[in-house]
Amino acid sequence: MEALKSIALLDSGVGGLTVVKEIFKQLPEERIVYFGDTARMPYGPRPHEEVRKFAMQIIDFLQTQDIKLVIVACNSASAAGLPYYQENVKYPVVGVIEPGIRAALSHTTTKKVGVIGTEGTINSGAYEECIRSLDPAVEIFSLACPLFVLIVENNLIGAKETRKVAEEYLRPLKEAGVDALILGCTHYPLMAEVIQEVMGPEVRLISSAEETAREAREILNDRKLLNPSSDNSCHHRFFVSASPENFVEIGETLINMKVKAYQVILPAI
Ligand code: DGL
Repeated sequence: MEALKSIALLDSGVGGLTVVKEIFKQLPEERIVYFGDTARMPYGPRPHEEVRKFAMQIIDFLQTQDIKLVIVACNSASAAGLPYYQENVKYPVVGVIEPGIRAALSHTTTKKVGVIGTEGTINSGAYEECIRSLDPAVEIFSLACPLFVLIVENNLIGAKETRKVAEEYLRPLKEAGVDALILGCTHYPLMAEVIQEVMGPEVRLISSAEETAREAREILNDRKLLNPSSDNSCHHRFFVSASPENFVEIGETLINMKVKAYQVILPAI
């Protein structure tokens, strides 16, 4: 039965687990299958074409895993080719860019919105383009913060240098006076505490995870694909392309459950 199948999610590493966490909250009856491309992360500095190929290769693997929906839980991979995946995949495919933007637009009162992400995401102009199409009056301040992904993947969020790196990166956005800041990389919600401290309490941090999970719920509901069973225990599956230890350590803390991750060696493309 189609509705009993899993929701597939992919990212370059642990970042997409911020979306998984929200799926567990909003759709607790659903099963997930997750792929973290830890052998090839970070995606941010890579050319779009390469990231698009990596993402498609992973989606092809996920399509062999009894799935019903794909969430590209990675802004860099979403920016690199969401329409391409949507055209080439037989299941509905959801990205993380538009959901985050909708949340930011509903929160800003000054109409000054900041966006932080990887170089790939920021340079793609995907956020600017989408925000302008939804509300041309909004002023956008975007900034790449490439070190944040490495800080998260290497479990260095609590290190004292991390605060300095965040202060350095975020200064221009603080000076610009944004009142909403989109965390345009799924790794960044893991650093939300330090980012919030640096930006100050008056700035609303926006993570796309919540809105993305809502969109997934709507799609499944419209297609009558919501899982009717409440027994999803032991059915979540996690795959990574490098050795799983680091992923498991960060993942278990983040989603607060035992994680067993299997390594899948992806052929070079
Ligand atoms: N978490 C990803 C994103 O949302 C990828 C980060 C990276 O690998 O550079 O952009």
